[in-house]
Amino acid sequence: MIRAFDSLSLKAAALFLCIVPGVVLFANSQESGSSKNLPSGGDLFKAKCVACHGSNGRGSPVGKSLGVADLQSKEIQRKSDAELFRIITEGNGDMPSFKSNTTTAEIRALVKHLRSLPGKK
Ligand code: HEC
Repeated sequence: MIRAFDSLSLKAAALFLCIVPGVVLFANSQESGSSKNLPSGGDLFKAKCVACHGSNGRGSPVGKSLGVADLQSKEIQRKSDAELFRIITEGNGDMPSFKSNTTTAEIRALVKHLRSLPGKK
């Protein structure tokens, strides 16, 4: 009886040792999978911002009529990442808030994209 129990718990332990790394690997692959699917800052900018800010960030005709700032300008580039993050999240005047339809990771990617706009001064 005792011996049978021992071999059973040994099997259970062996099974457990196989399952744990399997689950960890699976969880890791899920995680890296989701970050791979994250659209790039450039794609997000095209999808959500170009209508007002133009593809180069200097402002579309619609945006200019609303008084958009030139995103390549010193005034904007001087702002910290945290400040840009907050503006995109919360909005500012006619600049809409994006917190309801954009994830934190996507907003971070957008801030990075703002830093890489062509011709920024
Ligand atoms: C509906 C038009 C519209 C869209 C879409 C839009 N913006 Fe704006 N954005 C504005 C306007 C208008 C301002 C100027 C707001 C102000 O200073 O009163 C502005 C300002 C900004 C500023 C500078 C804020 C400041 O303090 O001067 C940043 C940075 C910015 N937008 C980023 C973005 C990003 C990134 C997106 C896309 C996720 C986006 N905007 C989408 C209209 C828009």
